[in-house]
Amino acid sequence: MPSTPTTRMRLGWFINFLTPAWNQPWSGTTGDEWMNGDFFVDMARSLDRAGFDCMMLEDSTYISDVYGGSAEAELKFTVRAPKSDPLPLIPLLAAATEHLGFVATMSTSFYQPFLLARLLTTLDHLTDGRVGWNVVVSGGKLAGRNFGMDELPAHDTRYEIAEEFVEVVQKLWTSWDADAVVMDRATGTYVDSTKVHTIDHHGPHFDVRGPLNALPPLQGRPPIFQAGGSSVGRSFAAKYADTIVSSAKGVDEMRDYRDEVRAKAVEFGRNPDDVRILYMISPFVEATDELARRRREERFQITDERARRRLLMMSDEIDMAQFPLDEKFPDIVTDSSKSITNAFRKWAGDRTLREAAASDEFEAVPLAGTPATVADEMQRVFEEVGGDGFLLFAGGGGMLTRRYINQICDGLVPELQRRGLVRTVQPSGTFKQRLTSEA
Ligand SMILES: Cc1cc2nc3c(=O)[nH]c(=O)nc-3n(C[C@H](O)[C@H](O)[C@H](O)COP(=O)(O)O)c2cc1C
Repeated sequence: MPSTPTTRMRLGWFINFLTPAWNQPWSGTTGDEWMNGDFFVDMARSLDRAGFDCMMLEDSTYISDVYGGSAEAELKFTVRAPKSDPLPLIPLLAAATEHLGFVATMSTSFYQPFLLARLLTTLDHLTDGRVGWNVVVSGGKLAGRNFGMDELPAHDTRYEIAEEFVEVVQKLWTSWDADAVVMDRATGTYVDSTKVHTIDHHGPHFDVRGPLNALPPLQGRPPIFQAGGSSVGRSFAAKYADTIVSSAKGVDEMRDYRDEVRAKAVEFGRNPDDVRILYMISPFVEATDELARRRREERFQITDERARRRLLMMSDEIDMAQFPLDEKFPDIVTDSSKSITNAFRKWAGDRTLREAAASDEFEAVPLAGTPATVADEMQRVFEEVGGDGFLLFAGGGGMLTRRYINQICDGLVPELQRRGLVRTVQPSGTFKQRLTSEA
């Protein structure tokens, strides 16, 4: 499928509701306070001002002791915990902002479709139509154990379940006709019961009678985001997602990924322009190119500690501590995040595990320089790939400070705006309408 170039660069920021950088020179007191939400409210204001499309809120619901057989490093480095539930944060963020969208990560392995449909529609109304859903299937040894599951279903079965889950949620969201609320003062009728319907869904994984006991979402169907990169994950995304987060690395892989997903979207009878791809980046922006490069080099120093932190993140199923750091990436097969493991294998190539893990970041292309240098590079990549935008990620919180947010929002983004790539005036409408608009 030939690429249709996107004219407007979409920007999102991926956050974890855990402590941002807490022991860095510019951390302030965030280590004590992140859980009250103020840091993220300030951040959302900055993103809103800078014309970001959305903030995407990661989630997971376990503490892992897979790496080295202990939770010591996991908790020491706050890799997955302590983490608060990101959903209650969303109304606070929305109250402080005007246009920014909020994408909630919710797992099809742990939620029930009814609860999720009701929660999201409630959030959609509370945020005035600014919520989205990052559909994840979850994986890893421990993910199911807090929910009464010894093992999660196999990888591809999890996607099968996710398909049915999304279908049920959509049925629930359309179980109310658009004109069901009549508010007829003469008869004292608030809702016309003939316009609210059971869904009577009976599938292999879910039985749901319906109807939804809440009003349907303001956006009709809030935008669906997806980050699964395995073959079945890509098909799922091409079928349902409005925005896909890709962990592709390098311009060629990014372009191939986009072309493939667009072609698959066409197979599902969709307009490929309705599916937008965001690539992960972690730019280093400083007053000079030299300083930014130095900061990046410092960050990616090949140390055992840095390698271990990265391997820890990959140890949701296989204990990566068992492999010698001086050897090559082992030949492992995982049923968890297949695409992330495969991307890492490709990235590692012939390097030792230490070198590969220490220098890896969730980034499509390395970016370091002044705002102008980084903006030039982002524009080049954006044009070569054909679209659609970037998802910023400050190293799992490791680089996330108010200073870093300002470097991006008040340094880098204005440069992108000067190039006409990022909007300066927000069109009216819901998150979904703004996301799809090229204006
Ligand atoms: C950028 C990115 C963000 C993700 N965020 C989450 C998340 O917040 N919670 C989660 O459980 N999984 C998350 N995942 C995992 C994927 O959504 C997906 O469930 C996983 O990669 C397994 O699918 P796959 O084998 O098709 O890649 C993320 C993956 C990527 C690449």
